[in-house]
Amino acid sequence: MNHREALRKTRLFVRSHLSGEATGHDYWHTVRVVRMAERIARNELADLFVVRLAALLHDIADWKFHKGDISVGPKVAAQWLKKIGIGAEIIGRVCEIIKNISFKGAGVRAGMNTLEGKVVQDADRLDALGAIGIARTFAYGGSKGRPIYDPLVRPKRHKTFAQYKKGAGPTINHFYEKLLLLKGLMNTRTGRIMAQKRHAFLEIYLKRFFREWKV
Ligand code: NI
Repeated sequence: MNHREALRKTRLFVRSHLSGEATGHDYWHTVRVVRMAERIARNELADLFVVRLAALLHDIADWKFHKGDISVGPKVAAQWLKKIGIGAEIIGRVCEIIKNISFKGAGVRAGMNTLEGKVVQDADRLDALGAIGIARTFAYGGSKGRPIYDPLVRPKRHKTFAQYKKGAGPTINHFYEKLLLLKGLMNTRTGRIMAQKRHAFLEIYLKRFFREWKV
């Protein structure tokens, strides 16, 4: 199967799995990540086919929705890619990216070793910032039954993935536990530049949020 056809089929596969998903990890999140990843990949001269496949499949079975199991995503992706006739070498590269993509806590070092992985991770992180990032964060918090904000609960710095997974603080705390840290964790120069404006918007938003809270 040629690359174009493989990408078309994969897009349909992902759409059938993720459309209507209500926690911010829906099909359109994937579409935005693919577009962003393509932009970064072109600037950084990464392998576009691997980047596109990994971006398309990166949330196909996120650990957040599989009781914290990070092995489900790569497994589902590998099965699919094999089914459509993708070679083992490409499957290995794509699954390695999916395995390592998620943020696992402020104190946990994420190992993304390949340029393609760095590109896709930056694209996914950019969608966690800015106006869309804010919308997704509250959608996710709501789906987990978390309050918007509770001034009596302080944000935490999670040193291990296990701690981060169990975190159940109010959604505003998530800005301090993850979102505001992402700007400093971007892998590529292109990603870093793109993160700046989105990060600045988070700060404006938080300032305003607390100003209104105090009235
Ligand atoms: Ni994602």
